[in-house]
Amino acid sequence: MTKKKNPADLRSRQWFNNPDDPEMTALYLERYLNYGLTLDELKGSKPIIGIAQTGSDLSPCNRHHVELAKRLRDGIIAAGGTVMEIPVHPIQETGKRPTASLDRNLAYLSLVESLFGYPIDGVVLTIGCDKTTPALLMAAATVNIPAIAFSVGPMLNGFFRGQRTGSGTIVWKARELHAAGLIDDEGFAELVASSAPSVGYCNTMGTATTMNSLAEALGMQLPGSAAIPAPYRERGQMAYETGRRIVDMVHEDLKPSQVMTREAFENAIVVNSAIGGSTNAPIHLNAVARHLGVPLDNDDWQKVGHEIPLLVNLQPAGEYLGEDYHRAGGVPAVVNELLKAGLLPHPDALTVNGKTMGENCAGREIVSPDVIKPIGEPMKTHAGFINLKGNLFDSAIMKTSVISEEFRQRYLSNPDDPEAFEGRAVVFDGPEDFHKRIDDPALGIDEHCVLFMRGAGPIGYPGGAEVVNMRPPSYLIKKGISSLACIGDGRQSGTSGSPSILNASPEAAAGGGLALLKTGDRVRIDLKKCTADMLVSDDDLAARRKELEDRGGYPMPESQSPWQQYFREKVQPFSEGMTLKDADTYRDIGNR
Ligand code: FES
Ligand code: MG
Repeated sequence: MTKKKNPADLRSRQWFNNPDDPEMTALYLERYLNYGLTLDELKGSKPIIGIAQTGSDLSPCNRHHVELAKRLRDGIIAAGGTVMEIPVHPIQETGKRPTASLDRNLAYLSLVESLFGYPIDGVVLTIGCDKTTPALLMAAATVNIPAIAFSVGPMLNGFFRGQRTGSGTIVWKARELHAAGLIDDEGFAELVASSAPSVGYCNTMGTATTMNSLAEALGMQLPGSAAIPAPYRERGQMAYETGRRIVDMVHEDLKPSQVMTREAFENAIVVNSAIGGSTNAPIHLNAVARHLGVPLDNDDWQKVGHEIPLLVNLQPAGEYLGEDYHRAGGVPAVVNELLKAGLLPHPDALTVNGKTMGENCAGREIVSPDVIKPIGEPMKTHAGFINLKGNLFDSAIMKTSVISEEFRQRYLSNPDDPEAFEGRAVVFDGPEDFHKRIDDPALGIDEHCVLFMRGAGPIGYPGGAEVVNMRPPSYLIKKGISSLACIGDGRQSGTSGSPSILNASPEAAAGGGLALLKTGDRVRIDLKKCTADMLVSDDDLAARRKELEDRGGYPMPESQSPWQQYFREKVQPFSEGMTLKDADTYRDIGNR
């Protein structure tokens, strides 16, 4: 398969060796020679390989890529390529205000321009922290030049007094201890910091481990690459192999559109259920698919993924962390279990190493069956999402497998209708409103109420806030009620395990049904029919709609930056991947 591409066909030759335009060629060459590159490296037979660098001091989760890029370079040069490292707009989940999610599309746009507008023949996508993975895959999808993803790897396991402490999940725990007076401010900081003992991304099954695993399940990483912890020697070795491989991919002209096919996305959805992946995954994979022109929506997530069992025992759903996941066999071991049961829909899907997913993973047996469960002994059955619809929204997803027995008793105890419940809606407009009013006794919240969060979607809270998972009022917590049914147009952190109904689309700020809901309305949720409705007559809804329009629509805070404003004007709903309008009509632009 390793036939060498004719150097004259390399994309970079349009810049560096264009016989039709020797003057421009000279001008392009002149400046790239000025830091020591040679003519042989630029205009000879060597493909020019970009390393899309997401690491920086602003992005601690991906910062180790600055080191790893050295091994990527070694691999690229060893295979006969020339390297150009490309800075990517930073997206740090824990550092960016108001939310890192706002910047996914900005990083996407800027990387598209870098790959399209410069002499790049192929690219290594350095992925890791939550939104870096989809942003880079989306750019690779639009430009469609040979691309391979390379994960930074998770942090080492966190420990505190002998117990594993995992990213994000420890924060929920620390909040409880702090509220109960069992730790002070310093203790809070110490406990939380214990979960981050090294370089790398979150060591729990949050959005980062999810998206890195799915990049591998899509076929975009070398097998086993997703889960190797950042400081392990194997991580550096994988960098070298990845660097070598991308050069061959350029010679083979193996493009993202040949790897990220409809079949690959179906495989990824199935793997997402088996690993217990984040509810952010449908937003991001739907986005990557749109940029490739592959049809994919939340109905597909339910159809393909809902009945798949949960195999990976990682926090927040289970006990273990990233190092354990890698040692147990990582993504290849999960895929192998699915293969054995005939649950991987497309073993023949092609991956970046030129082999199929089935070839890469068959026989990769589980090493620690505590951490990755054998397919016959899953942690849960039906670990995927359902897609709910009704007069509240057109689409919202829910992970039904995390509904606790206590929750089921409280909401789903009607023997005639065991999968449905009705409740009184209590509506909050954004996270500030929630924090201000949740403990107000005048709201009369009881253990059968349904809490609603709106104004938290891509437009309302630009980028979408991770706030749908709301705590009950203190007086209910004291009675032992630790969670209420929550529904909203925002997101939920991948490190939280609540059974919320979230990512509701269209959002209130776009005039979705949620904008018409009032505190006190009855709502009905049917998990069997997958419906969610407010029990309000059509006439009343029409009157409310008119009144909303007369008021000028659902109120929103001002944009705080130019990008927030452009984002709001262009963004599409979560169900459509939160992609930018029109951007998804540009395809294959690196091959024109
Ligand atoms: Fe960056 Fe979790 S915050 S990976
Ligand atoms: Mg998050």
